[in-house]
Amino acid sequence: MEKLIIKGGNKLEGNIAISGAKNAALPIVMASLIGEGRSFLDNIPRLRDIDNLVKILEALGAKVDYKGNSLDIDSDSVNLLEVPYKLARKMRASYYALGALLARYGQAATTLPGGCEIGSRPIDLHLKGFKALGAEVTIEHGLVEIKGENLKGAKIYLDYPSVGATLNIMMAAVKAEGKTIIENSAREPEIIDLANYLNVMGAKVKGAGTDIIRVEGVKKLKGTDYTIIPDRIEAGTYMMMAAITGSNLYIDKVLVEHVKPLIAKLKEMGVGVEEDIGGVRVIGNKNFKSVDVKTLPYPGFPTDMQAQFMALLTQAKGSSMVIETVFENRFGHADELKRMGADIKIDGRTAMVKYTPLSAASVKATDLRAGAALILAALVAEGETEIRDIYHIERGYEDIVNKLQGVGVDIKKVSE
Ligand code: EPZ
Repeated sequence: MEKLIIKGGNKLEGNIAISGAKNAALPIVMASLIGEGRSFLDNIPRLRDIDNLVKILEALGAKVDYKGNSLDIDSDSVNLLEVPYKLARKMRASYYALGALLARYGQAATTLPGGCEIGSRPIDLHLKGFKALGAEVTIEHGLVEIKGENLKGAKIYLDYPSVGATLNIMMAAVKAEGKTIIENSAREPEIIDLANYLNVMGAKVKGAGTDIIRVEGVKKLKGTDYTIIPDRIEAGTYMMMAAITGSNLYIDKVLVEHVKPLIAKLKEMGVGVEEDIGGVRVIGNKNFKSVDVKTLPYPGFPTDMQAQFMALLTQAKGSSMVIETVFENRFGHADELKRMGADIKIDGRTAMVKYTPLSAASVKATDLRAGAALILAALVAEGETEIRDIYHIERGYEDIVNKLQGVGVDIKKVSE
């Protein structure tokens, strides 16, 4: 096992380039199975999650070449319509295979994804959508099987604007006969990215990015070239690292539109933010003030930035309230931050945060974004912080040690 050692106190300077979005790449890579022939996907981040997805595609029979930040996928040799258990268990996003294989082959199966550190993560809304399109869903011994040769367009109302359900149902609907309407759909930028890719393959998806998505079924989709959007959560994480250390840092290749909720919050705290077409400059200072934050579906403040923002709030003057409305158990980072001296009180989905100086400790990442929060804290903690279970962090942050060393952070990865 490996761990990170970070010596606090350095400022960040220069610029950090943002990689492709993990949460856009995962559904788009799976959606390539719907297009006949080859797809060439660019700006794919080099992450453990993508490695696992490539293994799943190969297990299904697709030919995949993962070179640098590009994926060359030929789906025509797919000969299995069930994701192997051991691969599905390692990879929640394997459930995107359901929508993709159902659209192309009228059949799909994978293990029912278990919960994870941040919540039970049910997929009832995904299955509700498949059933509405006329598919037959059976769950036995933890295996979800979907059958639906001739899907018919339907009107589907999502009880909650679930990102995964919106993506999965959109994929399942692209070849369903007639019109499908997904109401109360999620509006995240990753939804728009998948819709754009599907449309370049020949689908007819309209309204992605709004709360009503309309799909008109087509006969066939053809593989194509596509470039993934930059990762707004990675970008936000580095913006918050600049803010917590009072640094002047340029974050390159970020779509400013996608990080507006965070920019608004940073400005409210008195942190300088300058936007230009290609990126964002954060002009930090050490006297930023406390603010309250509530996580909401896009375009609200993203739950995926909540842990990092809480670490930032431990250094804000005054006291702040953090409300997590999306997941039922996403404060795992609070206990680890308290080991570094943070003053955080949790009551259900609400956390109260007060300023205290932080000191280095040995801590562990409990999930992907919690790990990122611990890096933020370590950047300003007095002494050398040791972060374990960094495989969580490497799931979502391409090349993070080199990127941080490149802007002056005293960070190294060592084996336990
Ligand atoms: C996606 O998860 C992201 N993962 C998450 O990012 C992100 O936190 C989340 O969207 C919200 O933005 C990927 O894109 C791979 P949801 P997803 O379905 O699709 C409930 C990260 O750190 N729900 O919008 O699972 C669910 O329990 C990860 O990169 C149902 O009740 O999120 C949760 O409370 C973490 N039934 C809420 O909706 C369903 O059928 C939001 O879940 C589906 C979801």
